[in-house]
Amino acid sequence: MEFTKEMEAARRLAEARLGTFFPGGGLAEAMRYSLMAGGKRIRPILTMKFCEAAGGTMEEALDFACGVEMLHTYSLIHDDLPCMDDDGLRRGRPTNHIVYGECTATLAGDALQAAAFQTVLSAGGTWRHGGGAAKALAANILAEAAGLEGMCGGQYRDTLPGEAPRTAEDLTEINDRKTGALLRAACMMGVAASMGRRAVDDACMEAAKDYATNLGLAFQIQDDILDETATAEALGKPIGSDAANNKTTYLTLLGREACSALVLRYTEQAKAALDGGVWPGGTEFLRTLADSLAVRRS
Ligand code: IPE
Ligand code: IPE
Ligand code: MG
Ligand code: MG
Ligand code: MG
Repeated sequence: MEFTKEMEAARRLAEARLGTFFPGGGLAEAMRYSLMAGGKRIRPILTMKFCEAAGGTMEEALDFACGVEMLHTYSLIHDDLPCMDDDGLRRGRPTNHIVYGECTATLAGDALQAAAFQTVLSAGGTWRHGGGAAKALAANILAEAAGLEGMCGGQYRDTLPGEAPRTAEDLTEINDRKTGALLRAACMMGVAASMGRRAVDDACMEAAKDYATNLGLAFQIQDDILDETATAEALGKPIGSDAANNKTTYLTLLGREACSALVLRYTEQAKAALDGGVWPGGTEFLRTLADSLAVRRS
């Protein structure tokens, strides 16, 4: 299948399943508001496509994929709060706290995080040996990515006021945690979904990790470039947020040209990392996805 069609089919599958969660009003409505506001759905697509590459099907990884997207959506709701980046637009809509207030937005994020783990741990379908081990592995991967050593730790360092001037090494670590960690979890959980249902080459897990690490570094640099060069209409979020918050990014440190070169370098490294595993389902889609993210405009 042609790449864009395959991408669209995966996005639709994730979207349809995500739409079944949190019916009802009140806090559930606020959770749904951000979860169903669109977004590229890169993380759930990665989870499903890594499962497929490892010999499984997208459906087998669907609940893990939804868990990752819930966790990501929580991170976006909190990232936009006045105490963090203080942004008013997300996924083309007013941010959660603008519509529901800071208190509800905070709770919507909290509840989405809990729901993410619940969704992973109660994932349905046919598993080898009941699937307990695979679900526990996936939940553990997600917890590590979300917490102190991952997204939260990275967000903490990213938002610390008056930190000493950042070096490129600082930024690599911050970006790897705040953005890379969750992309890493998305990819590894796809392999975990497949391993819970059939025998899979162990090296695939390592390869997925390396692919995602490089993809994550490229992804955040591209995000920083777009913050300066795109339009709010194209992005669905405000531009100039980093400058308004006096953020040191690779862009302020190295300039546009060097950043674009770095995005391409990390993208090449991501694709090369896939050679570390044996993939019954092939890696063509994952390679093209990495290339397409390197030139994304939103
Ligand atoms: C935005 O992530 C936050 C970052 C980690 C840079 P995405 O660019 O994947 O946002 P959505 O999910 O498409 O809205
Ligand atoms: C935040 O990075 C990454 C998260 C963990 C949410 P940014 O603050 O640059 O993300 P955007 O630009 O608001 O999406
Ligand atoms: Mg931020
Ligand atoms: Mg932000
Ligand atoms: Mg940004």
